[in-house]
Amino acid sequence: MRAARQAGYELDEFIRDLRAAEAETPDPARLIQRVRPLAQRLATDGGWLRQEYYAAGEAQGFGVHLLHEEADHRLAVFAISWLPARGAPPHNHGTWAVVAGVDGPERNTFWQRVDDGSRPGHAEIVKAGERTFREGEVLCLMPEAIHSVVNETDRVTLSLHVYGRHINTTGRSSFDPAAQTEQPFIVTEG
Ligand SMILES: [Fe+2]
Repeated sequence: MRAARQAGYELDEFIRDLRAAEAETPDPARLIQRVRPLAQRLATDGGWLRQEYYAAGEAQGFGVHLLHEEADHRLAVFAISWLPARGAPPHNHGTWAVVAGVDGPERNTFWQRVDDGSRPGHAEIVKAGERTFREGEVLCLMPEAIHSVVNETDRVTLSLHVYGRHINTTGRSSFDPAAQTEQPFIVTEG
């Protein structure tokens, strides 16, 4: 007799659960806690993962592969791959974010903004902590939280990113702590 196959967690099931969570819980602080186990489950299931998601351009240093977004850009899901020794500068998202490790460790540095934001283009941020996230570990961030990411390994790493909105539609920023500047942060897909 054939053994029953345990059902995996497919991307469309994840999207269905994501929509249900958002419909029940509009508050970002509560919603990210609802999304956390869903993202962890999808990240560790891995049935959706394709080799092409490991592609990352040298200019940007990371590859952004859109898996889903709603017609109005809500509920954006990406596979993001990171070239060895590359990363993203300090940035916020302008929307809630849940990031789950899929393949390889990624070091996150957390930053705190210490100026009052009253001077356009000027921002002062200081390091507030660091943590490396590995496969199956989940990072939840509120819209104004600032982090930077680096792949310290010698091979491409990959993580699953879930955002309340597509990150190119939120008016979010990147930060240069040395120059004390803030500027729009737009990613290139692919
Ligand atoms: Fe980020």
